[in-house]
Amino acid sequence: MPEIAGARFLITGGVSLIGSHITDALLAAGATEVRLFDNLALGTPDMIRHLEGDPRVTLVRGDVLRLNELIDATQNVTGVFALAAFLTLPLSRNVPLGIAVNTQGVVNTLEAARIAHAKRVILSSSISTYGTSTADTIVEETPFTSAGQQPATNLYGASKLMGEALCAHYAKAYRVEYNALRFSSVYGERQHARAVNAVFIAEAYDAISRGERPVILGDGSEVHDYVYVTDVADACVAAMSSRSSGNVLNIATGVDTDLNRVVELLLATCGTPDLTPEHREDTRAVKSASVDHLRFSRAKAEKTIGWAPKVPIEEGVKRYVAWRRSNAG
Ligand SMILES: NC(=O)c1ccc[n+]([C@@H]2O[C@H](COP(=O)([O-])OP(=O)(O)OC[C@H]3O[C@@H](n4cnc5c(N)ncnc54)[C@H](O)[C@@H]3O)[C@@H](O)[C@H]2O)c1
Repeated sequence: MPEIAGARFLITGGVSLIGSHITDALLAAGATEVRLFDNLALGTPDMIRHLEGDPRVTLVRGDVLRLNELIDATQNVTGVFALAAFLTLPLSRNVPLGIAVNTQGVVNTLEAARIAHAKRVILSSSISTYGTSTADTIVEETPFTSAGQQPATNLYGASKLMGEALCAHYAKAYRVEYNALRFSSVYGERQHARAVNAVFIAEAYDAISRGERPVILGDGSEVHDYVYVTDVADACVAAMSSRSSGNVLNIATGVDTDLNRVVELLLATCGTPDLTPEHREDTRAVKSASVDHLRFSRAKAEKTIGWAPKVPIEEGVKRYVAWRRSNAG
């Protein structure tokens, strides 16, 4: 089982929301070096500004579609966090490239890990692998339901299922250990505008900070499982160092929060309870499954890697607003 302290790690797509927080968590746990492998197709240098000058962090400009670049970057690392991907929104704008990065990019990452003898790969998968499932409680065995979803949403979910199957194949055929983590809607400090559900928090905050009414699409009963980014980073590090590997795990809070509640929390945190939200028809061309209950089980993650989230939505919204305010102007 890989130790974190004293070890080197590679994060593909490392100049990202989640990658920047995994870096923080690895350094706090005593990692010797963290290599951020990214072609900056989507990520921007402000994501890692706070790491500038830290001798333990190396930025490697490279493309997961180029195996040779990945093999070079994977030398002497204990573990790889496979984050490079196109989320549903960017994928909908460039399907051929997005699918290539989400699938061939994972093949190359696993191949590089095999060749360079990295012990373990942690794959960033997604709850989009459940599609529009209406199961009472969503456990890891709940099947993908694609019916009724928009094409880009289905393609994203299917590409993550491919990534998981590739990890299972490399574990069986070549003993490259893995854990695949299905994140729910990740939000927090250094939030970007690429994630369809977290972007709602950002847009509602933008409106409130301009003194305008926040817009809620539909009646606001659509729910998401918002998981705070530092909790996600902790899950990734736990999945890397745990005794247990070969797992697919939900990394979700298990708490459904509807859009009306998100806005209520933002208004209370911003000290503007008199602003009322405006409900408009939902005409978005790209969105994730819009359902009024999710109820993800996080029992398996707790049992296998000892992970449980620490930041409830009430606290997470406060932290997000504090970060936006500290970056204003
Ligand atoms: N943010 C969420 O809510 C969420 C939810 C579920 C799963 N995930 C998964 O977690 C991972 C990280 O998410 P994030 O929100 O931090 O993403 P992000 O969009 O911030 O980061 C993705 C990174 O991959 C890089 N990248 C793209 N193509 C590349 C290529 N060919 N070679 C090298 N790098 C490349 C981008 O430049 C970017 O920095 C992704 O795999 C995503 O699918 C995210």
